[in-house]
Amino acid sequence: MLIDGVQHRTIRVAVDGASVELIDQRELPFAVRFETVRAHREMATAIRDMHLRGAPLIGAAAAYGAWLACREFEALSPSRFAAALDAAFETLEAARPTAVNLRWALSRQRAALADAGDPSDAVRRALAEATAIADGDVAINAALGRHGADLVERLRAERGLDRVRVLTHCNAGWLATVDRGTVTAVLYELRERGVPLHVWVDETRPRNQGALTSWELTQNGVPNTVVCDNSGGHLMRRGEVDLVLVGTDRTARNGDVANKIGTYLKALAARDNGVPFFVALPSPSFDPAMRDGDAIPIEERSPEEVLYVRGRDRSGGDASVSPYAPGARAFNPGFDVTPARLVTGYVTERGVFDADGLAAALSPDPALSPVPGPGAS
Ligand code: MRU
Repeated sequence: MLIDGVQHRTIRVAVDGASVELIDQRELPFAVRFETVRAHREMATAIRDMHLRGAPLIGAAAAYGAWLACREFEALSPSRFAAALDAAFETLEAARPTAVNLRWALSRQRAALADAGDPSDAVRRALAEATAIADGDVAINAALGRHGADLVERLRAERGLDRVRVLTHCNAGWLATVDRGTVTAVLYELRERGVPLHVWVDETRPRNQGALTSWELTQNGVPNTVVCDNSGGHLMRRGEVDLVLVGTDRTARNGDVANKIGTYLKALAARDNGVPFFVALPSPSFDPAMRDGDAIPIEERSPEEVLYVRGRDRSGGDASVSPYAPGARAFNPGFDVTPARLVTGYVTERGVFDADGLAAALSPDPALSPVPGPGAS
């Protein structure tokens, strides 16, 4: 998508053909800085410390991390190469727990590397697979966007709406994927079809991913307004939201949705006000091995993220400020689970489904599904 009128992806192989470049999202929306990542440990750090974020992008980054690991160990004997690669996969896999895309991408890499002839062949295969995962993400998002836009256009016609008012939480934007986004794929498709649109962007404390959403929507011509996380219920009650559309880090087999902390409250408010609540769900974020949402691992992040807010002060300088007294304690779960009963439907690259239709619609190729982890059944 566009930054200052120039097309970008969030991640790409660098021109040296030996490293990966990614947009360092910690600098956004104030500066667009590309970070060069040369080794799998650096990639694991970039994922864990959120230089990049968003489930699909975490998956793509892990896939490129696997390629970097193959390059690092290429000179080893085949048996030492295999052992080093196993350890590298474990390092990457431990970077963040909730987004299933990470495990999914590494499972794909494992399958791609299973028949590699020698380490050099593995390097070639790992790059081909990472490229396929990245390009596949873009194709999935484009298809998801078309199905979502069809859905919204139907809703608009049924209700006779002049313009469609969407509320979203966190950033399920192109910045959270390789390109196009999931929620934003729907919004960009609607904009391209000429459908009048306005987006309420949840601020999304504690890390304020709403700042990313607001910035990328504005860069790409979608009218939007930021609201603090407490405003959604009020807006829905006043009839100012036509639908809620959020992303997901992992959706369980029964349709329970893990997404950024605060999503559940929006689903409750939507249900109480008769507002449709849709989830943009690309198939790599569906985890059929996870029976329900209770089993999904929820990341707990540093209390510092709650106690301090980062941004720019009025004179444009970097600032990190806290409204809390020294010694205040905080708890910081990164995600929550919205039960399937509160979800109107799931917008996927294969169409829009309800919870009962999900498993059949998104049934993966067994060779590509993640290795079952803790809580799987
Ligand atoms: O902690 P983050 O910023 O990685 O969380 C991101 C989200 O919760 C997104 O909604 C989700 O990953 C879907 S992105 C298409």
